[in-house]
Amino acid sequence: MRLTIEQTYDRMSLRAAIRVVNVVKNKPDALICIAAGDTPRLTCELVAGLAKRENVDFSKCYFVSLDEWVGIPPENEGSCQYFLRTHLFMPLKIAEDHIHLFDAMSDNLTDECTTMDKFIKDHNGIDLIIVGVGRNGHIGFNEPGVPFNEYSHVVDLDETTQSVGQKYFREETKLTKGITLGLQHLMEARHAILIANGIKKADVIREAIEGEIGPHMPASIMRKHNNGEMIIDEEAGSKLTSTHEIK
Ligand code: F6R
Repeated sequence: MRLTIEQTYDRMSLRAAIRVVNVVKNKPDALICIAAGDTPRLTCELVAGLAKRENVDFSKCYFVSLDEWVGIPPENEGSCQYFLRTHLFMPLKIAEDHIHLFDAMSDNLTDECTTMDKFIKDHNGIDLIIVGVGRNGHIGFNEPGVPFNEYSHVVDLDETTQSVGQKYFREETKLTKGITLGLQHLMEARHAILIANGIKKADVIREAIEGEIGPHMPASIMRKHNNGEMIIDEEAGSKLTSTHEIK
């Protein structure tokens, strides 16, 4: 796994955005997955500008969602879908038939998982996945304890996720379950990037990089990926104890 520590959030975001544009440059019909949330906000916003500047055509590529809050409708500003549409799909003018998202309002979530897994398989796997990390180490909604070898599934959200998640919503919202790609999807992606910024992520980044690898710390899986990369800012990297040779 490669680790890049950028000075600022802006530089971290730019580096990640360049990765997105490059993947489409090299493979116009790439399948891409980007997390929602505060971390990837600027990355997403930068992609459309970069694509335009470098004349990169996104019309042939595909997107899948990483996760969604169960029971939260897509028009709710706190939903992952709302985030992706606003910050990524609309600016890039991605056609609807090139987007496959979890329907977290479905009364058959098992079916949602099966359809997502099939979509990814039918499109030959994910070319680039960009994830954030929760303060408890989760990736997507793969909470601590979720086995590394799962595909899409529905999870009970941790208390931390339920309370931290309130920041995305205008009013107090009941968040109990999530639907998410599994860590096996991340492992099978041709390129996996974890981005993290800010002092609030410093402990979890140290744990993920210096602690034991295992489901207790989902983000540690990044060290097992053969084309894994962490792009973090200085604050997120501020609790690392030494310079790392990370494999
Ligand atoms: C959201 C997601 C979550 C977030 C994580 C960090 O789609 O997958 O795992 O990446 O909770 O959230 P932020 O970026 O808001 O700190």
